[in-house]
Amino acid sequence: MITEIFKVDENSILELEKASKLLNDGELVAIPTETVYGLGANALNKNACLNIFKAKGRPSDNPLIVHIAKPEDAEKIAYTNELYYKLAKRFMPGPLTVIMPKRDIIPYEVTAGLETVAVRCPEHKVAHKLIEIAKIPIAAPSANTSGKPSPTTAQHVYDDMNGKIPMILDGGECKFGVESTVISITNDSIMLLRPGSITVEALKEICPNVKIASAVKEELKQGETALSPGMKYKHYAPKANLYLVNDKNINFIELAKEKQKTENCAIMCYDEEISLLENKNLLPVGKKDDVKEQTKRLFILLRRADDLCVDTVYAHLPYDEGESLAIYNRMIRACAHRVLGG
Ligand code: TXA
Ligand code: MG
Repeated sequence: MITEIFKVDENSILELEKASKLLNDGELVAIPTETVYGLGANALNKNACLNIFKAKGRPSDNPLIVHIAKPEDAEKIAYTNELYYKLAKRFMPGPLTVIMPKRDIIPYEVTAGLETVAVRCPEHKVAHKLIEIAKIPIAAPSANTSGKPSPTTAQHVYDDMNGKIPMILDGGECKFGVESTVISITNDSIMLLRPGSITVEALKEICPNVKIASAVKEELKQGETALSPGMKYKHYAPKANLYLVNDKNINFIELAKEKQKTENCAIMCYDEEISLLENKNLLPVGKKDDVKEQTKRLFILLRRADDLCVDTVYAHLPYDEGESLAIYNRMIRACAHRVLGG
């Protein structure tokens, strides 16, 4: 299959109509969103959704997020509640995914057999316009090969999906760079399953009762079932061994300089540290205090680490609070919990 890339914005009606037709015909289309690129299919078409799993090499027990044009469209696919609408009023459209009981119209192929469905209303104008034109809910996981970092540019998608899907909509670089915050809700409580750009602190302003699933910060214990199936898979892993350095206990620069002499390594350093290191295989993550920029560069740098063909990568252990929790969660899993300095 030939994979075509089209540069688009929300006014590219011809391309969006072509994408809409493909989706309605049961084909897959890669779509830009404000978080990462998604691999979209008609969420009401079982076979189309099964093809997502094939194209990604995704384990069949890992459910998909369903994307809608307006918060109210959740009524057609899920049993909502008051808390959903409070959250929607504040955070939608935007990088928030809410898990609720599913309605029959959503096939089990989408939810991997679960009785719940994950609902997200993306803010990206292209994604929004396409869902409107297609007039169907769109199931879309991140458009990477399973186990690789999520794609934040159309080129990343092409690198993983060339020959497997007919169309990639190129809407530019994603604004946030990590996947949406995923929560499950009851009437009066929130469980955080995957941290994203909408923080625990922001969620607490709408509902004070927010719990963080243990797998967000820690490894799943043996025999423990994941509240969100995606949590149990190794994710976002570069080919090299990634080590996180707790710079409270270890001098990062001294360690990095030593490793630069003795290993074929890359260093993910703060921008301020570039001049202190040998100018070889440096992957600057952004300024120390600029968590938004660090988030945006995260997956780009993990992919670049692969291109460098190094054996090891060293990076700062991120903070595990606020907006940085999303980076912590991805990095701790990318490094398979290899932390130097405790
Ligand atoms: O930002 C995003 O969320 C991107 C864009 C494309 O929207 N999508 C994305 O999808 O990251 P994916 O499939 O890569 O991650 C979805 C996560 C997985 O960890 C999955 O296990 C979890 O959401 N999930 C989906 N449905 C669920 C459900 N019913 N119950 C528990 N977890 C669910
Ligand atoms: Mg994913």
